Amino acid sequence: MRPEDIVAASLELVAERAGDPAAAVYGRLFAAYPEMEALFVRDTSGAVRGEMLAVAFECILDIGGAGAYAANLIAAERVNHEGVGVPPEVFGRFFPLLAETCRELLGADWTPEVDAAWAGLLARLDAVVRGLLPIGDPR
Ligand code: HEM
Repeated sequence: MRPEDIVAASLELVAERAGDPAAAVYGRLFAAYPEMEALFVRDTSGAVRGEMLAVAFECILDIGGAGAYAANLIAAERVNHEGVGVPPEVFGRFFPLLAETCRELLGADWTPEVDAAWAGLLARLDAVVRGLLPIGDPR
């Protein structure tokens, strides 16, 4: 199976087991970066958080294939996010935080095969995010 198919199957399992992972994902995000929570003040319904999560999942699955959708979206959103107060180095942390949340929700079903598939896609996303960072960035 292709890594993106393994990751897609793991996301389906997360949805089956835990329903919408948004609360767990954003709980983890705000625990790691408490100062980011206030930026969502206008998102009273959670729709923006839900849409952002859906788009991040699409990027994860796309990067296993052609990757052009993810690369373009990340380039644009990095700039948009800097405008609303999300530093570029925090922006890129969303994908690993997402993976950590899924790993926690799946428990024993997060197998070595699932872990390896996620690791490959995360590494590619990280390269995309880092490639956009200014040269000499300390990360
Ligand atoms: C820890 C990192 C991140 C933080 C703190 C963050 C924060 C935010 C905030 C505060 C908004 C609402 C902006 C507004 O009020 O207009 C937003 C919207 C959005 N974010 Fe993020 N973001 C992060 C990472 C990402 C990543 C990696 C992606 C894409 C792959 C992404 C995609 C989006 C999209 C598409 C929206 C617009 C959703 C909509 O309005 O329907 N974000 N984000």
